[in-house]
Amino acid sequence: QKKIVLPDCDEFWNIAPPNAESMKTDTLSAAKANVEKKGFLDIDLDPTLDLFAAIEKLKKEKNAVLLAHYYQEPDIQDVADYIGDSLGLAQQAEKTRADMIVFAGVHFMAETAKILNPAKKVVIPDLKAGCSLSDSCPPHLFKKFKEQHPDHVVVSYINCSAGIKALSDVIVTSSNAKVIVESFPRDQKIIFAPDKNLGAYINKVTGRNMLLWNGACMVHEIFSLEKITRLKVRHPNAKLIAHPECEEPVLKIADYIGSTTGLLKYTQTDSAREYIVATETGILHQMMKTSPEKTFIPAPPNNSCACNDCPHMKLNTLEKLYLCMEYETPEITMEEELRLAALKPIERMLEISKKAGL
Ligand code: 13P
Ligand code: SF4
Repeated sequence: QKKIVLPDCDEFWNIAPPNAESMKTDTLSAAKANVEKKGFLDIDLDPTLDLFAAIEKLKKEKNAVLLAHYYQEPDIQDVADYIGDSLGLAQQAEKTRADMIVFAGVHFMAETAKILNPAKKVVIPDLKAGCSLSDSCPPHLFKKFKEQHPDHVVVSYINCSAGIKALSDVIVTSSNAKVIVESFPRDQKIIFAPDKNLGAYINKVTGRNMLLWNGACMVHEIFSLEKITRLKVRHPNAKLIAHPECEEPVLKIADYIGSTTGLLKYTQTDSAREYIVATETGILHQMMKTSPEKTFIPAPPNNSCACNDCPHMKLNTLEKLYLCMEYETPEITMEEELRLAALKPIERMLEISKKAGL
């Protein structure tokens, strides 16, 4: 009978046994090389990893603060240090003492945090989390428009790029737009960019006649007046609450109009039991958390979907959030000259808001 003799394993395969550490380094280098293209670190995570605990640990280890907008998915809101609207987030970014700002929101928000904090690292889960409103106002076209109206001051909604901020006299958010517009003399000519819906609403409540850039938010523009009207018939006691980025016909029938923080506060203090909410659905998480006895119905859009998610905001996930904190990538960076030009109108906004008690 023949005896089979097996060679020594390593000698037989003539390769070194796989090294877990070097494989990890290779995967990380490849993911980092691809981050500009993909927008995030595309690395598979162990599904048994407790992401909530891991994120909390990273916050402590790196002295990081996690800021999240109300439109983020519920899991991200639950792990955040601060959840807010655009103004609240900018104010938190301005006063934080953390070494690293982790911004769970869209690009212009993280960019604003970087403009305010040049020495801090600002990371975002997905660099491609943009904004249709911001995209509707390219700086080179806006510059030409501005040049055609040299006697106008420029008031820009924070939902714009650093390039537009640098061309502006003051920045506003939906929380402070009315106060800031009213801080200009009545006869001052004003360009308002980029949101024509918010601009038209501010024109209406202030009696001004600002020149409006023709931009809009894809999420707030799509609400169906017909479907909302039908919902109101089915829920006669429900109040309609709407964000001022909505179109005029929706705002016209709203019981309350406000920023995301304004809408949330209204549902906490108002006596109604039911609300039709005309803004991005992420805010419903906080509404249901703070008023569990009330009913919140997302206002339906003009398509086959039942609710209205912002595709940009929802690019961020808990996995991408963990990865951007662990590897501090993708990071927001900016030319210093552009940053300084964009800083001025943001500082002016923060100053006026502070004086107004906002
Ligand atoms: P606020 O955060 O000011 O309510 O704006 C909502 C929004 O569309 C942010 O992208
Ligand atoms: Fe931009 Fe609208 Fe999305 Fe806000 S909800 S990030 S304004 S597209």
